[in-house]
Amino acid sequence: MCGIIGYLGDREATPILMESLKRLEYRGYDSAGVAVLELPKAGHANRTSITKSEAKVDTLIEKLEANMPSGKLGIGHTRWATHGKPTYINAHPHTDCHGKIFVVHNGIIENFAELKAELEAAGHEFPSETDTEVVPHLIEANYKGDFLAAVRAALKRIKGAYALAMFSSDDPELLVGARLNAPLVVGLGDGEYYIASDITAIIPYTKRVLVLGEGEVAAVTPLGAEVSTLDGVTVKSKVVHVDWDVAQAQKGGFPHFMLKEIHESPEAVANAMRGRLTDDGAVTFREFDVPDDQLKGITDVLLLGMGTSLHAAMIGEYVIEDWVGLPARAEDASEFRYRRPTVGDHTLNVVITQSGETADRDADGAIYLHSGPEIGVASTKTLLAHMISLYLLALRLATVDGRVSLERRGELVEALRALPDQVRGILARDKEIVELAHKYSGYRNFMFAGRGLDYPVALEGALKLKEISYIHAEGTSGGLLKHGPIALLDEQFPVVAICTASATKDKMVSNVHEIVARSAPVLALVTEGDHSLDGVATDIFRMPAVEEAASAVLNTVMLQLFAYHVAVKLGQNVDQPRNLAKTVTVE
Ligand code: AGP
Repeated sequence: MCGIIGYLGDREATPILMESLKRLEYRGYDSAGVAVLELPKAGHANRTSITKSEAKVDTLIEKLEANMPSGKLGIGHTRWATHGKPTYINAHPHTDCHGKIFVVHNGIIENFAELKAELEAAGHEFPSETDTEVVPHLIEANYKGDFLAAVRAALKRIKGAYALAMFSSDDPELLVGARLNAPLVVGLGDGEYYIASDITAIIPYTKRVLVLGEGEVAAVTPLGAEVSTLDGVTVKSKVVHVDWDVAQAQKGGFPHFMLKEIHESPEAVANAMRGRLTDDGAVTFREFDVPDDQLKGITDVLLLGMGTSLHAAMIGEYVIEDWVGLPARAEDASEFRYRRPTVGDHTLNVVITQSGETADRDADGAIYLHSGPEIGVASTKTLLAHMISLYLLALRLATVDGRVSLERRGELVEALRALPDQVRGILARDKEIVELAHKYSGYRNFMFAGRGLDYPVALEGALKLKEISYIHAEGTSGGLLKHGPIALLDEQFPVVAICTASATKDKMVSNVHEIVARSAPVLALVTEGDHSLDGVATDIFRMPAVEEAASAVLNTVMLQLFAYHVAVKLGQNVDQPRNLAKTVTVE
């Protein structure tokens, strides 16, 4: 996820771009840049000053303060690298062959390789590795004297996700914004206008915004903002008045980053798949382009992680064995590195980390999550992105070996594609989950139980609850219960039992009967239409009937919200729980 900002008005653009980029830095901070159209000089062609930094926004600001461009039109960008390393040349803004068209972008252009090849064949050159760079060149290729028309024509060719701010040196009073599958707002000031990734960037300047719709373009001039479709049809956008302060704006109006990030999960799930999965189940990881014949030689898969990422590894283990038929094993990275482990020459080693900073791990290549920064210490949307990435990896391995039929691939693609909306369905039931959380928030101990894919989901549910509410919670497999943990159970020790449809659901139902026989309250997650626990479990939360791998994602979201609302009810510091840090860089 990146942050973009654009300004057109009668004040100096650069200071506004600098301040806005500082407020957008939470969206990404591995490189940054601005482009400012300098004040026209009689007899000279309009000139645009570009300043970039291959480091954080502060480094960019130092450069700008040392040599401040003067102009009233500008755009800025703070980057969370997706395609291309965080280097100077890959930093935005990007421009066309003649250095006249300037673009900053948040999103992923899925068909950039095809567009880049077409433009290169037409003589365009691309110094950077980014997908974004095709945009200014595509506009240039469509430019016939009308910049806005060229933008619309270019965007019609683009597939994927984009939030864009752009301008041309030949149009000193025109700032253009556009969005598809990525957020963008137009800020309405007093004779000055802003285009920004979100309200955070512009809240000190204006509280009046237009929220662009999917596929819409905003043309901003000193006279105002006009919104239209890519076909040039005018759109009547509603002006929204926001009454947030900056801190609230960074949380998108949510009370905590954790809740905001749980609500970003549908996009995190969609972005983890974007540009990687075709309708027939073919998977491509551009940044991890291992040829099929090398993947064919893999004999087994080792997955390493810590905490939530270890639970992701366990989910990956299950799915790889189930879909690919290869031996797979998940290991606690901190233990693994000090054992004398056996790792074969053809073992695929997968290290899982949302921060990329946890001690104990290193890698030759990476599959990026594309979920954007996660500020809350408790991992939420990044776990879902890990799950989706591991499902895609399993599908890639299964396809390479022909271990999964075309029909089965189609079923899995359908199940994965339906997930963003199904996650939205769980988020929409927040009130039900709040009621359950408040009902159970008085207990001092919890057990989370599940089987198969839902065993790591149970472990994760326990971890989420304990790390933000400080209530003792432990996870167990349903089968393990009778080997000790059941001794803990009584009327003061509730169990969250994951009993959604799976090969072992009936065994989980039996476990619930054994739990209830010990007077322990049971909150059961069951698949809609399944009444086997009606009148048995204390409370039932019904989940949609989906593929088991999809069900694990939805169960995870429900348990994240459950833990969040218990912790809020208890007045805990949800975003920065005691004793924890977002990244554990020591062993
Ligand atoms: C989980 O909510 C915690 N934030 C923690 O267990 C985390 O998953 C673990 O420290 C691993 O972090 P990583 O994914 O950044 O490597």
